[in-house]
Amino acid sequence: MKTLETERLILRQWEPEDADFVLDLYSRWEVQRFIGNPPQVMTNRAQAEERIRAWRDMGHPVHAVWAVQLKAGGQLAGTLLLKSIPASGRLPLQPSGDTEIGWHFHPDFWGQGYATEAAAAVLAYAMDSGLPKVVAVTAPANTASQKVCSRIGLVHQGQTGRYYNALCELFELTGSP
Ligand SMILES: CC(C)(COP(=O)(O)OP(=O)(O)OC[C@H]1O[C@@H](n2cnc3c(N)ncnc32)[C@H](O)[C@@H]1OP(=O)(O)O)[C@@H](O)C(=O)NCCC(=O)NCCS
Repeated sequence: MKTLETERLILRQWEPEDADFVLDLYSRWEVQRFIGNPPQVMTNRAQAEERIRAWRDMGHPVHAVWAVQLKAGGQLAGTLLLKSIPASGRLPLQPSGDTEIGWHFHPDFWGQGYATEAAAAVLAYAMDSGLPKVVAVTAPANTASQKVCSRIGLVHQGQTGRYYNALCELFELTGSP
């Protein structure tokens, strides 16, 4: 996977020793409440270790899940995802063929522009890599995430039930042919 760098952040591969941070992040209801259908918090370190294993093994030339780390101080701040998004339908959900960008940050690092800075770098990387389209979906109530979508240039398309068996706000960016 490609390491990305912004003014304040490094986006790097997740390492097994990051499991404590992953558990701290995903065990918080304020982080997890708009993620998943239905949302569920992480409850133990083994789940964090398994999540890191899956993130390190995406099996795709462009898709990746990055650990977002502050350059100053080195603290982990959150997760940036570029991955296949499942279509709505019968369980288990199947890939839609579209690529989703997403972000999950620790509350200690909200309100400082870090999510937008990291997401902009991943969106640029996705487009530079030739992906024809990147989508983002948020729960209708997740206004903080919708603001990130707009700040990085994703275009609001209204609501859709196309993905995750859920009604979501849909944002898209289409690459130039
Ligand atoms: C969604 C989420 C990442 C948004 O985080 P965030 O910190 O609000 O987003 P940003 O990085 O864009 O920060 C923007 C805020 O920082 C402020 N800010 C402070 N310093 C800044 C700087 N140097 N540059 C830019 N913005 C700055 C902005 O004014 C803005 O505040 P506002 O929203 O009150 O206007 C965060 O709420 C989160 O992780 N939620 C839980 C997981 C989740 O729901 N993920 C999305 C699922 S769809």
